[in-house]
Order: sequence, then C-alpha cells, then structure tokens
Amino acid sequence: MTILVTGGAGFIGSNFVLDWLKDDATQGESVVNLDALTYAGNLRNLASLKGDARHRFVQGDICDCSLVDRLLAEHQPRAIVHFAAESHVDRSIHGPGAFIRTNVEGTFTLLEAARAYWGTLQGAAKEAFRFHHVSTDEVYGSLQPSDPAFTETHPYEPNSPYSASKAASDHLVRAWHHTYGLPVLTTNCSNNYGPYHFPEKLIPLMIVNALAGKPLPVYGDGQQIRDWLYVSDHCSGIRAVLARGRVGETYNIGGWNEKPNLDIVHTVCALLDELQPSAQGPYARLITYVKDRPGHDRRYAIDARKIERELGWRPAETFETGIRKTVQWYLTHQDWVAEVQSGSYRDWVAANYAHR
Ligand code: NAD
Ligand code: DAU
Repeated sequence: MTILVTGGAGFIGSNFVLDWLKDDATQGESVVNLDALTYAGNLRNLASLKGDARHRFVQGDICDCSLVDRLLAEHQPRAIVHFAAESHVDRSIHGPGAFIRTNVEGTFTLLEAARAYWGTLQGAAKEAFRFHHVSTDEVYGSLQPSDPAFTETHPYEPNSPYSASKAASDHLVRAWHHTYGLPVLTTNCSNNYGPYHFPEKLIPLMIVNALAGKPLPVYGDGQQIRDWLYVSDHCSGIRAVLARGRVGETYNIGGWNEKPNLDIVHTVCALLDELQPSAQGPYARLITYVKDRPGHDRRYAIDARKIERELGWRPAETFETGIRKTVQWYLTHQDWVAEVQSGSYRDWVAANYAHR
C-alpha cells in the first residue's frame, strides 16, 4: 500500500510525510513524494528519511500530466494527498501567474489523472481510493470582529490572488466529485506554524529577523487576526479525514487560537528574550510598523466542531506549547535557516520590504 503526496518537500507536506512514516495508525505505509522543489521546497526537510525505502522522492511538476499518469500507473497509490501549491499571499500580489498555474491548472491536471487512474481500479481498491485536497480558510474571505467563525457552509469570498486560486481549486475538486463521482475529501485549515516553516511567513520571519537584529516588519496596525495551529495538529487532522472522513465532504481544521499579529510578534520576542537574550536589550525594540498588505484580510477564525464531532479530532498543542517548541526548533536549526536564506530569498525580501 502506498500514498502519493504532492508538495511533500514544503512546510506542511514535509511535516506530513515525516509524521506519516512515524504514526502507528499508518503502519509505515510508503509514500511517493512528488515535488517540483520551487524556492519553497527543500529536500533538507526530509534528510532524516535518507535510505528509508518507504519514501520515494520524485522531483517533478504537478502540471506535467504524463509524469503524474506514469506515477499513478507505476505505484498504484490508494490515495493522493495534495499539498503542492504556491502558498504565500504577498508573492501572489507581486506575481499572480504562478498561483493560477500551480494551484488551478496543477489541481486540474491531478484531478484528471486521478479520474483516469481511478477508472482503472476495481472492487475494494476502487472503493477505498481517495483524493484529499489540502486547502485553506482564506477561501472564505475576511470576518468582522463579532462574526461567528467560518463553518464549512460559509460562502466563498476570496480576496487575494492566492485565496482566489485556492478557491478555484476547491471548486474543481468539488465538481470532479459531483460530476464524475471521484471520491474526494477537502480540508480547509487555518494558519500553521512549526518546524520547517519558510521564513517569508510571519512567525519564522520574526524569529530569524530578531536573531539577526533586523527590523520586525508589522503590516498596518498589526491588529489583523489569524487562528494559529501547530503543524503536527494539521497533519493529524488530515490523517483523521483521510481515514474516516465522509467522501465528498469538506472539513475545517483550526486551532481555536485567534490572535492579533502584534500579540504573536510580542510572544515570539518574549520567548527569545528568555531563551537567547540579546545584549542590545529586548527584541521587541525591533518592531517596525510598515505599509499594509493590499487587500489585507482583517480576521480569520475556524469553527472546527465538525471534524471534532464526526472524527473525534482536536489539536494536541495549545498556542503556548506550540510556539515554545517552534522558537526552540529555530534556535537549534540555525544551519537550516542559513541555507534557506539563499540568494533568491534575499531577492524576495528586497522586493517585498524595500518600498514599505
Ligand atoms: P509551501 O509553500 O511551504 O510548500 C509548497 C510545496 O509545493 C513546495 O515544496 C513546492 O516545491 C511545491 N510545489 C509548488 N509548485 C509545485 C508544482 N507545480 N509541482 C509540484 N510541486 C510544487 O506551502 P505550505 O505552507 O506547506 O502549504 C501546503 C498546502 O497547505 C498548500 O496547498 C496551502 O494552500 C495549504 N495551506 C497552508 C497553510 C499554512 O498556514 N501554511 C494553511 C492552510 C492550508
Ligand atoms: O490562513 C491560512 C493561510 O495562512 C495559508 O493558506 C497561507 O498559505 C499561509 O501563508 C497563511 O497566510 P497569511 O497571509 O495569513 O500568512 P503570513 O504568515 O504571510 O501572514 C500572517 C499575518 O501576518 C498576516 O496578517 C500578514 C502579517 N504579516 C506578514 C508578514 C510576512 C506582517 O505583519 N508582516 C510580515 O512581514
């Protein structure tokens, strides 16, 4: 038995693959990992799997239909877990084309390949097959302060090129189920944080900038709210939905941890003050307000009651335990941080922050 994971060298995908191969319930079921290794993909995340026959890495593009067809025919996976995407909102504002290509066309290519492959399966194998689409809470748009959290029936109101491309991919997945009967599952998750998070995103950016004595750029007034979930909890939620979720359903996954960005930055600074104090004084001195993100969504919050009610899933980490583990991970993985801060990373930082 095997599963095909796309985007398994990125932040969440690599955590998912590592956890999958450790988890008792999956019994070490093997993984074929298809990833194009864009700037966000990093084989170093998977270094602990070197020599492990249960993990087969394939460098390739999800838009390459003949490659995807070949992998499905060769490995006969019982499921596809689809993480591969362009994932950073700011990059989608600077260059939306890559988001349409990977997130929309790439998902379309996978769905067509999965449909053809599923059509060749018979009996129990056909019955058991699943296409699990990993999506985001950003497809639901932005909440007012007193609005209830997003449920699975909240209207789609995406506001950025990133969230619009993810919304489009969700609609394709839904349509392939309704029209062709493809056995799909979709999960819409809130903001993740944890090990291997690329330091273009808020939490790892603040950690690496603080340690380097650089400004901590807070967009606008810093009062935008996100709902934070430790990455291994997202991965366990996906495993629960893949194992027991109802075909054709969507499940929201979230941490019940709504926090304004400025609180997050202060929490990171306080942990660094405790774990690696700076001779120059508290890290919060580096907080710098910069020009806001265009179209910046004000608040996200996930109502995760459906996955708890139907599948018994709840996050294992609180924000306090998860953020401490995360800061400690970055402090002990400075080599990983140094490697990802390569030339293309520096180009991005210059492009995004120079004119704020
Ligand atoms: P990431 O940017 O860290 O990783 C994306 C991975 O996809 C990289 O390894 C990259 O090389 C690969 N990839 C990109 N284009 C590809 C292509 N055309 N073909 C094959 N591989 C390609 O992203 P992430 O934060 O790990 O997010 C993974 C998924 O989870 C995405 O679908 C994202 O929308 C979703 N999601 C992310 C979060 C979050 O907080 N990060 C929250 C909810 C949902
Ligand atoms: O909600 C789920 C989404 O969370 C995922 O679908 C996306 O893939 C993921 O990138 C994330 O999107 P956000 O835009 O919420 O994450 P980001 O870390 O980029 O920003 C978090 C908040 O912090 C957001 O309100 C913008 C703000 N921010 C971000 C950066 C990079 C800053 O204030 N300063 C910064 O330098």
